[in-house]
Amino acid sequence: MSISLKVAAGRKADRTAGPEPRLVGQSCPHDDAPGHVRGTTAFIDDLREPVGTVHVAPGFVEAGSGRIQAVDLEAVRRAAEMIAVLTAKDIPAANELSLGAGDQPVLAHDRILYHGQPVFAVVAASHRAARRAVRLARITLDAETPVATLAEAAAAGGEIAPSLCLRKGGDPDAALALAALKLEGSLTIGGPEHLYLETQTALAIPDHDGGLSVHCSTQHASHVGRVIARMLGIPEALVACECRRAGGAFGGKQTGATQWAALAALAAHVTGRPARCRLERSEDMVMTGKGHAAHVGWRVGADRGGRVVAVDVAMDLACGAAVDLSERVAEGALFHLDNAYFYPELRVLLRRLRTDCVPATAWRGTGAPHGMLVAEQLMDAVALSLKLDPLDVRKRNLYRVGRDVTPYGLPLSDNVALPLIEELERTADYRARRKAIAHHNYESEILKKGIALTPIKVGAAFTDQALNRAEVHMAIRQDGSVELRHGGAELGQGLNVKLAQIVADEFGLDLGRIVVRPASSTMLPGSGPTASSMTLDLNGTAARRAAETLKKRLIDHAAAVTGIDPRLIRLDRGTIVAGDHRSTFAALVDSAVRARLPLAAQGAYAMPKVSWDRQRGQGRPFLYFVYGAACSEVTVDTLTGEMRIDRVDILQDCGTSLNPEIDRGQVEGGFIQGVGWLTMEEIVRDESGRILTDGLAAYKVPLATTIPADFRVRLFTGRPNRETTVHGTKAVGEPPLMLALSVFSAITQAIAALKPGAVPALDVPATPEAVMRAVRRLRSGAGG
Ligand code: MOS
Repeated sequence: MSISLKVAAGRKADRTAGPEPRLVGQSCPHDDAPGHVRGTTAFIDDLREPVGTVHVAPGFVEAGSGRIQAVDLEAVRRAAEMIAVLTAKDIPAANELSLGAGDQPVLAHDRILYHGQPVFAVVAASHRAARRAVRLARITLDAETPVATLAEAAAAGGEIAPSLCLRKGGDPDAALALAALKLEGSLTIGGPEHLYLETQTALAIPDHDGGLSVHCSTQHASHVGRVIARMLGIPEALVACECRRAGGAFGGKQTGATQWAALAALAAHVTGRPARCRLERSEDMVMTGKGHAAHVGWRVGADRGGRVVAVDVAMDLACGAAVDLSERVAEGALFHLDNAYFYPELRVLLRRLRTDCVPATAWRGTGAPHGMLVAEQLMDAVALSLKLDPLDVRKRNLYRVGRDVTPYGLPLSDNVALPLIEELERTADYRARRKAIAHHNYESEILKKGIALTPIKVGAAFTDQALNRAEVHMAIRQDGSVELRHGGAELGQGLNVKLAQIVADEFGLDLGRIVVRPASSTMLPGSGPTASSMTLDLNGTAARRAAETLKKRLIDHAAAVTGIDPRLIRLDRGTIVAGDHRSTFAALVDSAVRARLPLAAQGAYAMPKVSWDRQRGQGRPFLYFVYGAACSEVTVDTLTGEMRIDRVDILQDCGTSLNPEIDRGQVEGGFIQGVGWLTMEEIVRDESGRILTDGLAAYKVPLATTIPADFRVRLFTGRPNRETTVHGTKAVGEPPLMLALSVFSAITQAIAALKPGAVPALDVPATPEAVMRAVRRLRSGAGG
């Protein structure tokens, strides 16, 4: 047993502890990029179908909500290519999708809770036949008057979960009464459609042992596996659910993927054949959960200099007909209601209202966008009323480093908001451009311009602390290639390439020697959802730990064989360097295999320091904060309400960026998605709660033309994360979405130019219609 370490002639031993990161910090291309460009990447629907695969189409009632009177599926059963018709009666065990609330059936049985809720499913030999057959159903309801809008929900007062309150300071009412400036206003916020490119889809294949293999486009494979096992009444260990990649998710596949995978699994269970369920775009837009719509009433008090003294906010969230993820969304909104600003006195009442609509779910940012929007609205209102530069007001209200704590008692040790804002203020030439815009607005009667520079401060961690963990499984194969299994899902965000970079650097290997396996419910039972921007932080740390364990084992083995002090042995560029000896990594692994050493390891990570006491409203819900700022300039046509983004400058804190090009992609994409939510995406429902915007002809989303002609994105570098994260990285998946608030604020400034001193009441999304409403309100004196 020997490693055949050859002596490298004329080389001095290198005594450094380990190699510098070689790949971490480099813009390694996304592993899916070549496939995406060639169109060869396999998504769920591209997986080769096993022989005999059947197709599932969900069926629902063309009416709102109510008790089911009669279900007549005779015509459906006689349809062409029919194999089976599934109803709730076919479910062997639990007809339940929820995370624990017990309020979301796979198939409705006695009541229809919302328009679009599946009541039955057709299993046919082809996708088209299944779709044609569902239309033949005759279902009658005792139709009830649905609570379809937030206003109706507020009037009905039905809360789907207890209200959240947050209070800080002595007496916000007294502080408001005494304030030199008192303002109040309201804001309606639309809940956006996720519009992932790959609609909800799953393929379930029966196994020989009574279990199932399920391929699903999901953010949470282990939850999908759990729900299927619970539904079929079989051990969870018999269900293997995996997601190699999802074609986008944005929160919509955190719980939203489960129902369709469950229907595919049920069809596979009943027919004994592989079964696919894929939603058409129009079905997906009607039957799946959206982001939360909200209504906010606010009051703010400030001094003459624009310093906020008290804030009082009442936010209602439209949660739909089930709890789903509304808890975390509500907490996200609550924890981000301050954004980067210090409120000496604060009262928040956050209600989660029930509507007879499809349950609202997570959407990129998990409530943070809603909360931060309110903060920015307050800053604009104060600045416009006092005719101050809104940037000065924002800077005056920033948390002061080392002095202020958040409303829930957390000091901000890592606050880089001010230096970051000041750098962007300089590089974006904010002051000179604001002056030029004031001049433009003086000269131009109809076309008004606005510029706004807004910061973001986003908490990093799941507010549900149980989810702040990860485990990975790593195996070194005999040829020295490394296999990593982790619980995170590749949603397009570049998770897998970043993990491969981390692991490759630990072993001193090239990227091509690291194989990252699909997210799977097997082996890693505790995997949480790929969500809240935490997946790289959690899995990256766990992967690094697994690699450290295996690396130590290999180096100890080399030391034992060569007699060289293990501290002098390094792994670098596929080579093991031990004093003057060198060998290949593969030869070292081969030797370790023959020495009968275990070459697989688990790595686990539980995020330290975080805690949250829901009762007391105190604790440390986040490990650290992510900062950023954007400066946007827009032109608004105040006769038509049309808007153009002229220029955007962004400076985004990523701690130490593991992969700058991928991070830049997250920043650009997040920003544009935020622009869509804030300025154009509008879900329209009829009075029964039925979604009318069921396609891209009706639902307007950002296009290539939405991208600002002048778009300058930079990463704020040189400040690694002060908390211990893998290589000092910071979360970058969701925070950049909130940079788009600068566009909304700039539109507000542009409208305000019509009437200095007034505060426009602009709703989200600021569509041309909404802009014109705000213009008319302003002109008639009914500003915010
Ligand atoms: Mo994401 S909104 O945390 O699924």
